[in-house]
Amino acid sequence: MPGSIKNVCCIGAGFVGGPSGSVIALKNPDVEVSVVDLSEARIQAWKTDALPIYEPGLLDVVKAARDTDGSGRKPNLFFSTDVKSAIQKADIVFICVNTPTKTAGTGAGLAPNLAYFESATRMIAEYAENDKIVVEKSTVPCRTADSMREILAANGKPGLNFDILSNPEFLAEGTAVTDLLRPDRILIGSMLTESGLKAASALVDLYAAWVPRENILTMNVWSSELAKLAANALLAQRISSINALSALCEATGADVGEIAFAAGLDKRIGSRMLQASVGFGGSCFKKDVLNLTYMAETLHLPEVAEYWHSVVTINEWQKNRFTKRILQRLHNTLSDKKIAILGFAYKKNTSDTRESAAISVVQSLIAERAKVQIYDPQVSQGQVWEEMQIHGVPIEDVSKYVTVHRNAYEACAGAHAAVILTEWDEFCNKDSNPPRPAKREPKETKGNESSSSTDDDSAVEVGSGDLRRARRATLEEKNPRLDWTRISGLMQRPAFVFDGRRVIDAQKLEKLGFHVEQIGKAR
Ligand code: NAD
Ligand code: UGA
Repeated sequence: MPGSIKNVCCIGAGFVGGPSGSVIALKNPDVEVSVVDLSEARIQAWKTDALPIYEPGLLDVVKAARDTDGSGRKPNLFFSTDVKSAIQKADIVFICVNTPTKTAGTGAGLAPNLAYFESATRMIAEYAENDKIVVEKSTVPCRTADSMREILAANGKPGLNFDILSNPEFLAEGTAVTDLLRPDRILIGSMLTESGLKAASALVDLYAAWVPRENILTMNVWSSELAKLAANALLAQRISSINALSALCEATGADVGEIAFAAGLDKRIGSRMLQASVGFGGSCFKKDVLNLTYMAETLHLPEVAEYWHSVVTINEWQKNRFTKRILQRLHNTLSDKKIAILGFAYKKNTSDTRESAAISVVQSLIAERAKVQIYDPQVSQGQVWEEMQIHGVPIEDVSKYVTVHRNAYEACAGAHAAVILTEWDEFCNKDSNPPRPAKREPKETKGNESSSSTDDDSAVEVGSGDLRRARRATLEEKNPRLDWTRISGLMQRPAFVFDGRRVIDAQKLEKLGFHVEQIGKAR
């Protein structure tokens, strides 16, 4: 029955729950959406203009659905810690909680920790007073729906029916709003029973408010669960493949950019996700490939497990290889040398630093007793401190060897090398890659934080043209391209640039006297 969903609850107000709930609310003005979380601080931030996550275009979407703006549209997006009432009111509950890799017990270092996911499922069972559709939005192992069914049946009130759907999320950070507004596909997995198919159809209707029906796929629930892990594994595998080739390029004189370009023109291969780098980061690729590896191990498929695990092995090797190159080029000692780190986020246009390659690189530099001077336009000192400690670097070492700076010039002052670890546009000096192509629009930023160009054009749908132009001017003033001549004057001689993201036109910097070392390119 079209439009049968009138009330939505998203459990987990993180990178997935917040943006997904906001876009569902924006596109379904007659549906009330509550995004709930146990973290009071996170929920409070969602109620302000300083959102808890930095994501281009997101504030515009949130404000359009959350606030009254005089257009006559009633606010239909709410953020709350009252998980109980949000569940009770909802027709459909999306579970969007974190599923990190286990750090202890059976499967530690491989299996996902499903404690948060199970606790959300149990809350639904405990609080629900009528039938619910319960949606796995978090990334979970294949057959998780079985465990959910058992928990809901054993703990729910007698007579209630819970339909479980798998609806994995494919957004990438930095482009989350565009990805949500114009998804390649929406995947909905259900039990192939009458009730399961009816639940899937209700969810199809919710998405059909803005996604063309032919892009909404329905399938059996196990395929949908596994399709999410498969997609991330295949994407991560492409990056490990091009990174493995980058090592061959450095050893032979070939250029990995040219290799990727030539290979990518073959339509069967395609050009995307072939950008060689210091290694992929982010909260999901490693975790999900390990999740798949663990599944294969437990299903007694050791060859399959080994195959997928090699994707992560190459990624770790790539990060170490890059740091070793820095050590070698700086005459095999980094002790007391100042090394500027440009970029700490795991990719541009996000403030997220989870599993960023920068963490491993900085860790290795600290082990060499280098003085590490970090600048990232979206990452605070507190966040760097926290990440280093999570990864086992003692606080005394962090405070002794690491400083975090307000801009790249401060970070490069007195440095022997500048190391580019995030591809922020302000670090790029290539003519062919202007920071703001005309058709792209500027994005709202968090508080007084700055932004850079992005693939996101979502603001087209939620902001006014004049406002966007004004914002673009302000943001470009805040984050202009680096003046590498000025940086050259600030650094020690010889001055090295290690480009872990291939954002540098090496010839231009060499004219300024820099020695440039790039991933996938021999010296
Ligand atoms: P996150 O850590 O940013 O957010 C998860 C939120 O859930 C946190 O705010 C936490 O406080 C809350 N939470 C945990 N248990 C809770 C409970 N019982 N009740 C209420 N709130 C609870 O995580 P994320 O990055 O949004 O990822 C969520 C899931 O989505 C993961 O499974 C991830 O693999 C998947 N995913 C993430 C992305 C991404 O880009 N980050 C993309 C696609 C899929
Ligand atoms: C990835 C997937 O792209 C999403 O589809 C998926 O939903 C998400 O994981 C998830 O499940 O969490 P995300 O990690 O946000 O999204 O970002 P990506 O753009 O995929 O980049 C991941 C990492 O790979 C980054 O460190 C990035 O710099 C690196 N990367 C990406 C490369 O090194 N080369 C490339 O060509 C592309």
